Amino acid sequence: MSKAKTPKKTTSTDAASITADTAGTGDFAFDKDALFVGIDLGTSRTSIATSTGVREVVPTYVGYPKDAIGHELLGTEPLFGELALKHRLSVDLVRPLAHGVIQEESKGGKNRNLTAAQELVRHLLGKAKAQPGQPVYGVIGAPARASIASKRILIDAARGILDAVMVVSEPFSVAYGLSILDRALVIDIGAGTTDLCRLHGTLPEEEDQITLDTAGDHVDQTMEKLIRKAYPKAQFTINMIRDLKERYGFVSDTADRVLVKFPVEGKPTEFDVTDMLREACQSIVGPMAEATAKLVATYDPEFQEDIRSRIILAGGGSQMTGLSKLIEAAMVEYGGAKVRRVEEPVYAGANGALKMAQRMPQHFWKVLS
Ligand SMILES: Nc1ncnc2c1ncn2[C@@H]1O[C@H](COP(=O)(O)OP(=O)(O)O)[C@@H](O)[C@H]1O
Ligand SMILES: [Mg+2]
Repeated sequence: MSKAKTPKKTTSTDAASITADTAGTGDFAFDKDALFVGIDLGTSRTSIATSTGVREVVPTYVGYPKDAIGHELLGTEPLFGELALKHRLSVDLVRPLAHGVIQEESKGGKNRNLTAAQELVRHLLGKAKAQPGQPVYGVIGAPARASIASKRILIDAARGILDAVMVVSEPFSVAYGLSILDRALVIDIGAGTTDLCRLHGTLPEEEDQITLDTAGDHVDQTMEKLIRKAYPKAQFTINMIRDLKERYGFVSDTADRVLVKFPVEGKPTEFDVTDMLREACQSIVGPMAEATAKLVATYDPEFQEDIRSRIILAGGGSQMTGLSKLIEAAMVEYGGAKVRRVEEPVYAGANGALKMAQRMPQHFWKVLS
């Protein structure tokens, strides 16, 4: 890392006045020689996209080998993503954004979550291969709750890794990536939270966003409960349930039956989980429709219709088949809506953050020293 060119130092709140026009046109990057990165720091998955064309995604987990045996087996360096999960029994597993924010908890004066988030981002940036001395400018898209509540923590996390940073809410970076900046609503369905964000030609403020706790994890927990109730003898874990959901997740009434094998007293046995899967997937739709209606209703009445007709789903949870239709149906009682899904749910956030990094004029950046 090296020193960035020295734009005027600002606080990140200065960025609040960005308009759709300045954001949408031209190339405003203030340092053409820099490496630009977009980072989607999610609760369950972190992805980056860089101006050099690198794209990487890892589960948001960092594992620290626990003891002498762990060190012998795995070395002393932290493990990231899949590798950390694979060795979860030999490492202290840290999920830095467990509740949609980097927890302020500190242990012996050190914030383990903050350190883990930094190490994870550093690990991913390592793959971007910045030239020696090349400044690195990054836009971090974080869960809406994190970007409102702990922007400062995220900026601290970037210190020593990036030369300049902007923190934006993830649904906003998704919208920016699609060049949708005005009169639209993005619903980002992650693991821990569903973040809704209203776009109206400026950076979103607190009143433009709603965070719900009904998201992917909630679907898994609901499904687990329903299957345990229906089939008390079946043996399974929440991880098996999540896999099932990701493979078959759907919310429509007319899908094929979903038959799965779970052991019963050790013997693989077939179960029909169609109804439980559907009910669990559907359980997040009601709160989403209600929150959508609220963001529409509190908007300028002349433009409410426009927002309704541009609702965009993003995030891993948006991949459940039939979800758009179901939200449209649930919105009928609130006046209707048109819902579609982004094409690349996994990279939409990182792509948007990268695009923003490449275009933001210098005074939007927080330069780190
Ligand atoms: N194909 C799929 N169908 C349904 N849900 C999925 C699918 N793939 C991933 N998910 C779910 O999406 C959630 C993670 O979404 P993601 O956008 O990666 O989260 P985050 O922003 O919280 O890191 C998890 O609950 C995961 O199980
Ligand atoms: Mg996300």
